[in-house]
Amino acid sequence: MDRRTILTGITTTGTPHLGNYTGAINQAIQSSKNEEHNSFFFLADYHSLIKNKNPEEIRQSSLEVAATWIALGLDTKKTVFYRQSDIPEILELNWILNNFTAKGLMNRAHAYKSAVNENKSNNDSEPDKGITMGLFSYPVLMAADILMFKASHVPVGQDQIQHLEMTRDIAQRFNHLHGEIFVIPEAILNKKSSVLPGLDGRKMSKSYNNFIPLFCSSDDLRKFVMKIKTNSLEPGEPKSTDDSHLYDIYKAVGTNDQTNSFKNKLHEGLAWGDAKEELFELLDSLLSDSRNEYYRLIKDPSHLNSLLLNGAQRARELSVPFLSKIRQLVGIGSLS
Ligand code: TRP
Repeated sequence: MDRRTILTGITTTGTPHLGNYTGAINQAIQSSKNEEHNSFFFLADYHSLIKNKNPEEIRQSSLEVAATWIALGLDTKKTVFYRQSDIPEILELNWILNNFTAKGLMNRAHAYKSAVNENKSNNDSEPDKGITMGLFSYPVLMAADILMFKASHVPVGQDQIQHLEMTRDIAQRFNHLHGEIFVIPEAILNKKSSVLPGLDGRKMSKSYNNFIPLFCSSDDLRKFVMKIKTNSLEPGEPKSTDDSHLYDIYKAVGTNDQTNSFKNKLHEGLAWGDAKEELFELLDSLLSDSRNEYYRLIKDPSHLNSLLLNGAQRARELSVPFLSKIRQLVGIGSLS
């Protein structure tokens, strides 16, 4: 098999929760251990400006996301781990790509379309009310992130598939004019990320406030698990796993053996309270080592900073010469 280049970005809004872990984070960390691939993971902090204008929250989230990835075992020697904002070439490429991006293509981006639809449903006379150019052109920045490092495979959630299509489109337009410069990337769909239910059974998400934080004290973790909604079947009554959020969460973190045994116990009538205790024990043992590491890292931002800067340095060994080549191609470069 060809050597793949895997790249993914994490927008630095909020504190990572269990849903992020079972979806993107765990998968990315596992693939980073595969020696056959090159991998690039980065904090998409410029992307977070689109949603968040609070500098303190952006800084805090960058710190927490970086600490989470490292605490969960990302190997920064095998992976290039960096902050988007430490690679100025990405923003230069972003501008160049703007000129290869049809505005009509951006009109179809669903984040933009849903903002317009919301204005329309509120009967606003201005359909673009409150929409920034950042939101509108967000997919171009994402294309620059991906194309800069010649990513061949990009693990993303369902909501990002359209952005990958746009990246391909933009890259093809550029290549059509200038030759095979950009690698046309493929999306790898992260199926698990869309299905982890939260405490109330809806998708686990920061915006529904129904999430289980990844790193909190054991006591708090137990409290969160106890809040997971179950039905009113009594202890001793057989419980189906078909519509149990508790079971779905267990399954997302347990091994196959653990999950099968949990399933059997529920069929045999395990009480919901005891089932929650089992899920808590599983999560607590899974997370306790990383939790200690996380708190150690959070207290030492300068260590995280130097890891990220080291990643940026390695990334720039590629981005600086590549951008220079692209600039020459479009006619922006040395006059001599
Ligand atoms: N937009 C992505 C998200 O919200 C984050 C992101 C930014 C990204 N740049 C990327 C993901 C490049 C993959 C590749 O999830």
